[in-house]
Formats: sequence, structure tokens, C-alpha cells
Amino acid sequence: MTTPAELLARCPFPPPGSPVTCAVSGGADSLALLVLAAEAGCDVTAVHVDHGLRPGSGAEADRVAEVAARVGAAFRAEVVAVRAGPNLEARSRRARYAVLPADVLTGHTADDQAETVLLNLLRGAGLDGLAGYDPRRRPLRGLRRRETQALCSALGLHPLQDPSNDDPRFRRNRVRHELLPLLDAIAERDVAAVLSRQAAVLRSDAELLEELALAVDPGDAAALAAAPAALAHRAVRRWLRTGDERHPPDAATVARVLAVARGEAVACEVGGGREVRRSRQKMVLGGTRGYVADVPSEPEHQHLFESPDLGEVVVDAATLQARVAELGAAITLDYAERAPLLIGVLKGAATFMTDLARTIALPLEIDFMAVSSYGNATRTSGVVRIVKDLDIDLTGRDVILVEDIVDSGLTLSYLRKTLAARGANSLEVCALLVREGLQKTDEELRYVGFRIPPKFVVGYGLDVAEKYRNLPYVCVFEGNA
Ligand code: IMP
Ligand code: MG
Repeated sequence: MTTPAELLARCPFPPPGSPVTCAVSGGADSLALLVLAAEAGCDVTAVHVDHGLRPGSGAEADRVAEVAARVGAAFRAEVVAVRAGPNLEARSRRARYAVLPADVLTGHTADDQAETVLLNLLRGAGLDGLAGYDPRRRPLRGLRRRETQALCSALGLHPLQDPSNDDPRFRRNRVRHELLPLLDAIAERDVAAVLSRQAAVLRSDAELLEELALAVDPGDAAALAAAPAALAHRAVRRWLRTGDERHPPDAATVARVLAVARGEAVACEVGGGREVRRSRQKMVLGGTRGYVADVPSEPEHQHLFESPDLGEVVVDAATLQARVAELGAAITLDYAERAPLLIGVLKGAATFMTDLARTIALPLEIDFMAVSSYGNATRTSGVVRIVKDLDIDLTGRDVILVEDIVDSGLTLSYLRKTLAARGANSLEVCALLVREGLQKTDEELRYVGFRIPPKFVVGYGLDVAEKYRNLPYVCVFEGNA
């Protein structure tokens, strides 16, 4: 019979008395985690996260609460709202980790590790992927799934069976139920145990390389080009992986960046609308084609002032400012040794333009023009009239037309035509926002801040009947215009 004490000897829990939070779904692994953490003498809080996706998930929380009470652990139920739709698994994980403390313990076993390693192998992962999951905060990593199940039955606990664990549409389930048994048969040994031990060894190699790669500055083209490939790759991957949300770049992207470092290209795309560009010996990460605004799903915001018409924030103030600075840096590089003339389209672009101008490290000039598309409607009529013309002569100038938002593109194509006839040396467009969908082509947009979903938005210069321009962020307008 499996006893908690036997298993505990193989689980590195924090010392007795340590406060720990355990994520407990109610399956055998997480129930074993809860029982063993209590047995280890930790001060345990069990947290169940209900994603509200499956009927009856509320009752699951009650089952976990019962077990927590039985082992003397505190219990907390969290409910997160995850809407059905694409990337459900990733969004659920993000929502779950948002309500769990960073040092939460989870019940991953050696079997999970073996499955993770194989899944990563099938994805074409390198050393880091083959090192499997991060063993920190996974005290059951030395146990087997059959042992957590045996523990539950010995204690008379009835773990919840998640029906999706048997669904062969999930690759992990096929690895678990088909691939690993086949590997065991071919190798005539317990392959999961082998893989989880290998993962631990590979992890220490990966950690060493990661540390050595810290010495390689990805902003320095010569250093990057001269570094050993293993370190240069890591330096580039870390650089491009800003924020946890972003996936690490693929091998082809890293190879393109290294080609830029070696001087084989001046710039390359690195995904997500970003690019890496070399300016003399400096490598600069930026993007000119527009990030896709990731509209957060939580409906609660503190708006600048109360209004029932203000909805979800599409781009928050900090993200706006960071992006404006990136665009300014790209323009600074592109127009080096020139003095561009920024032309803002009143009134919407005024806010963006004055912020943008302050991030461009060149002796630029600014001017404004005002056009009217007749009326206050939330749709462009297509008929555009110049209400205020420019003060500065365009002859021989490098003009950057600054726009708040490009929707149908009608305003822009009218302005382009008009300005092109005035003798400028060059004419490019910098648009803070592009609404996805309507424009036939946006090849003409040299610089784009964000690509936004097809909703009417206000703030950061954008208005409805002259209101809301002062919001320091961009949000959805939900009223009737
Ligand atoms: P377009 O001619 O259809 O590309 O429309 C561009 C102009 O319409 C912008 O310069 C804005 O003045 C206005 N506009 C388009 N969409 C929005 C919006 O979502 N909020 C506020 N103004 C908008
Ligand atoms: Mg406008």
C-alpha cells in the first residue's frame, strides 16, 4: 500500500511551516500534491481555478474544498472568465496564472515531464525544449502518475477525471496513451523514467549556456557575429522575447537576425510586425508595420472620467508611449542626416504627432493641415475638403504624413494625391492605428503603430463629435454617434 510518508521522501517540499499555495484541479496528481504538502508540514492553501468553460466545474471546487478541509489546508476558489474562441488553452493558462501567486506549486509528475519532452521533440525543439518543464515548484516531479493514483485510492479520495484527458485530438493524450507504451515496448524499459532523468541533465547544460550568453550583447552587431553560434542564438532569442506573452522566435528568424549582424542584410522581419535593423554597428529592434493590438478581455477599467459610452481599452497608455518611441526610433534611423517634415492631420493626429516628434532625434519641422470629411459621423464619407492648408513649402522636403487612424484609407489617398503634386523629395505615411479589414492595400503605410479590430475607437486624439480626444489611451466607443 502506498503511504504519504513513502512518497514524501521523494518530494522536495519547502521546510515545515513554509506557506505554500497549491493549484488543485481535483485530479489525482493535484490531490496528491495537496495531501503531500500538508504531510510535509507546510502551511498549505489549496486554490481551485474555475474557468467557467465546462458545466459542473463549480461542483469540482467543492470536492477540492472537502479534501483541503480533511488535510487541514486552507482553501480558496477562483473563478476566471475565459471566453471561448481561438487560443483557448493559452488564454486559459494566462487567466489561471493571473489569479495564482508566482510561486504556486503544481502537481506535475515524471510522466508529465516525459510527455512534455516528447511533445517538444516533435515540435523540433532544441536543448531548452528537450530539458522539459521547469522543475522548480513541481515537487512531484520525481513521482509517477500511477503513484499519485495509488495514493488517492489508499486514502479513499476520488479524483476527478477530466474527460479531455482521453481525447485523442489532443496530441499530449496520444503521446501518453500510444507513443510512450510503444516506446516502452521497443526499448524494453520504462522510457518515461529515462526521459525525465535526461531532461534534468539537459537542463543543467541549458542553464550554463544561458548564463554564458548573457555576455553577448545583441545590440552589438560585431559581438553577435563573432560569438559562438550556440550563444549568439540564445542572445537573439532572449532579446526578441520581450514579455512573457511572446513566443520565442523560430530558428529561421534567429538566422535572419544573425545575417543582419554579419552585414549580409540591413534589416529583417522578426514577426509580430517587428524588425531588426542594423545601423552602423548597432542592432536596433523595432517595427514599422504595426503590432496587432491585443484587446484585453476583462471589461473593467478605470476610465479617465465616467461615461457609459467608453468600452474596452484597445491600447493602454503605457503601450502607446512605448510604441510611439519605437516608431520614433525607426524614423530616426531611416532619416539619419536628414530633417524630415512631419505633417499632422488635424485634429485627430495632433496628440500622436506631438508625442512622436519628441521621440525623433533629428532636426525636424512640423506642420498641420486640416481636412473635413463632412460631419461628425463615425464613417468617412469619402469626400474630403482641405479646411486648413500647410504653411511650409514642400519643395525638396522629406515629408512624413502623420495620421491618427486609417480606416477606409480614403482620407489618406486624397491627401497623398494632393501632396504628391507639391514637389516633395519623398512622402511616407506614419499612422498610429490601422483598422483591419477595409483598406484595399496598406503597402503605402511605411510606419504603423497598431492594427486594431473593426470597432470605432476614441482617445489619444480620436474623437466622437469632438469629445474624448483627451483620453491618454485608445478605447472602444460604445455609444451611438
Ligand atoms: P478613412 O478616410 O476612412 O481612412 O478615415 C480616416 C479618418 O476617419 C480618421 O483620420 C479619423 O478622423 C476618422 N476615423 C476613422 N475611424 C475612426 C475611429 O475609430 N475613431 C475616431 N475617428 C475615426
Ligand atoms: Mg477625425
